[in-house]
Amino acid sequence: MSTINLVTEIPGPKSQALNERRAAAIAQGNAKLTSVAIQSAQGAAVLDVDGNTLLDFAGGIGMQLIGHNQPAVVDAIKKQADDLIHMCSIVSTYEPLVALAELMNSIVPISGPTKTTLSNSGAEAVEAAIKLARAYTGRDSIVVFEGAYHGRTNLTMSMTSKYALFKKTFGPFAPEVYRLPFPNIYRRPAEMSAEGFVEYACQQLDNAMISQVDPNYIAAIVIEPVQGEGGFIPTPPRFLEHIRKICDQHGIVMIADEIQCGSGRTGKLFACEHYGIEPDLITVGKAMGAGTPIAGVIGKAEIVDGPHPGGLGGTYSGSPLACAAAIESLNMIKDPAFLTRANEVGDRIRAGLLALQAQYPDRIGDVRGLGPMLAMEIVKDASSRVPDMESTGAINAATLNRGLITIRAGLYSNCVRFLPPLNMTDEQIDEGLAILGEACAEVLG
Ligand SMILES: Cc1ncc(COP(=O)(O)O)c(C=O)c1O
Repeated sequence: MSTINLVTEIPGPKSQALNERRAAAIAQGNAKLTSVAIQSAQGAAVLDVDGNTLLDFAGGIGMQLIGHNQPAVVDAIKKQADDLIHMCSIVSTYEPLVALAELMNSIVPISGPTKTTLSNSGAEAVEAAIKLARAYTGRDSIVVFEGAYHGRTNLTMSMTSKYALFKKTFGPFAPEVYRLPFPNIYRRPAEMSAEGFVEYACQQLDNAMISQVDPNYIAAIVIEPVQGEGGFIPTPPRFLEHIRKICDQHGIVMIADEIQCGSGRTGKLFACEHYGIEPDLITVGKAMGAGTPIAGVIGKAEIVDGPHPGGLGGTYSGSPLACAAAIESLNMIKDPAFLTRANEVGDRIRAGLLALQAQYPDRIGDVRGLGPMLAMEIVKDASSRVPDMESTGAINAATLNRGLITIRAGLYSNCVRFLPPLNMTDEQIDEGLAILGEACAEVLG
C-alpha cells in the first residue's frame, strides 16, 4: 500500500495561504526548503494542511530518525508534562535529567569515566564543547575544516564553512578559528590517487601546525566523522587517525561533531565507532531528541568537568520534556534490532541510488555516505565534475510535486541527501526511490 496520497497540487491552497502568512510574519532569513505546510505526521508519513499525505525522506533534517511522533516518545512527553514541565536544572535536579545523562555516558564509545552536559541545540552543544576544551587546556585556538557545518551562533558560524549561505553579512567572526583543507576524495585533483590525496591532506595538517598555529596553542580540533551539510562526506579513516595522533602528541582535545551523523544515522550509535577511534568529546543533537530541542556533549569526565560551576547551561538546558523524549529515543536507537533495520534501510536506498547512477552516469557524479547516511552529488558532467545546483534544486522540486520530501546539501548545494526515518518499511523505501527515479528522468533525462 502506498503512503503518498495527493488530493491537490503541491503546494495546495491552504499551504500557499500559510506560506504567505509566514512570509509576512517571519524573517526571510529563516529559509524554508519546501512549500508544504504540515498538519501532523506519523512515522515517515506527513499530512499537509490540504489533506495530502507525503513521504518524508528529509526527517526534519535528520531529527526524525525513529519516525515522526513515535508513540513511546509522545507518551513520555505527555506523562512528563503532567508531572513537571520545567524547573530549570540550575535551580534543582529532576530524575529525567540525571537518567538521560547516565544513559548517554553509558553508550558513548569513549573509555574511562565519562560525563555529559546538555543544551538546547546543536550549536550550543558545539559552543559548550569548545568551552570544555578551552577550560581544560587553557588554550584558545580551534582547528576546523573546509566543508564543515557547526551551527549559526557567532562562534559556531565562525567554525562553519560555506560562506555565502551561512556567513555573508554576519561578520566579524570569532577569532582563533583555523580552517584547514578536508580530503573530499570525489573532488581530488584528477592526477592524484585517493590514498595520495588523503596523505597530502595529512601533510597539510602537519604543515598548518607550523604555518598557521602552534599546536601548543590549540585547544581543540573539531571534525564531523561524516560531514553533514558539507554533502555527506565520510572522513577518510587515515585522516581521522592522523587527527587523533596529533591531538595525542600535543595535548589537544579531539571533538567529534556527531550532531548530524550520530545517534544511529550511520547504522551505528556513533559514527566514530565505524573508525575505531575514540574522540575526547562527542557532540550529539538532532535525532537524539526525536524532534524535541535537546543536544549535548559527552566526553572524558576530566575534560567535561573543566569549567567552573556556573560556566555551562542555561534556562532550558536539560528540559524535562526533552530529556523524557531523548531517553525513549536513545533507548530505541541503541537496540541492536533497530540498528540492524537501519542498515537494511541504508542498503536498500544505496542500491536504489547506485542503480540511478548507472542510468545517469554523467549527471550523478557520486553516490556516497556511511551506512544509511547517503547522498548523491549532481554534476554538469562526470568528467568536469562541475556542481549542478540548479538540477539538484529541480530534483528536490520534482520529488515534492509527486509527494516525496527531499532536501539538498553540499558545499556547492548540489547533493540530494537522504535523512528518512530509519525504521521505514521496504514499501516506503521503494515508493520513494521510484519517485526519485521519475524526478531524475524529468530533470536529468
Ligand atoms: C554537524 C552539525 N553540527 C552542528 C549543527 C547545529 O545544530 P543545530 O541546528 O541544532 O544548532 C548541525 C546542524 O545541522 C550539524 O549538522
